[in-house]
Amino acid sequence: MLISETLRKHPPASTTVRVVTKPYVIPGTSVNLDVGVTILIPIYGLHHDPKYFPDPEVFNPENFNDELKAKRPNHSYLPFGDGPRNCIGKTEMCIIRNRH
Ligand code: HEM
Repeated sequence: MLISETLRKHPPASTTVRVVTKPYVIPGTSVNLDVGVTILIPIYGLHHDPKYFPDPEVFNPENFNDELKAKRPNHSYLPFGDGPRNCIGKTEMCIIRNRH
């Protein structure tokens, strides 16, 4: 929980990038993403959004207890990115994290 909270509050990668390969409308909006557009995924912004982490500026390892983790959508916490181009260091870091 300590390492997870450290990576939440101070993510070494504050954003990551994707390029749109298929036309897509963001659900619930009228925002069209055209093929070829570059998208910045705001990792730092998600990790500091009070919708997902109440009191985001406070260092609170309890943000990662089972109960609070289950309440958040999966992609509100992305220190290693996600999908086929996620961080290859993630597996090793997760093994270390599980020891804490
Ligand atoms: C706390 C440690 C680390 C953090 C927070 C971190 C974070 C990230 C993030 C956010 C990405 C972008 C993933 C995406 O866009 O989905 C990334 C990519 C990557 N990381 Fe890490 N990383 C860490 C450690 C490492 C280590 C130890 C290695 C090497 C052993 C590594 C190798 C890479 C590589 C090669 C990529 C590019 C993967 C690709 O484009 O397919 N990272 N990392």
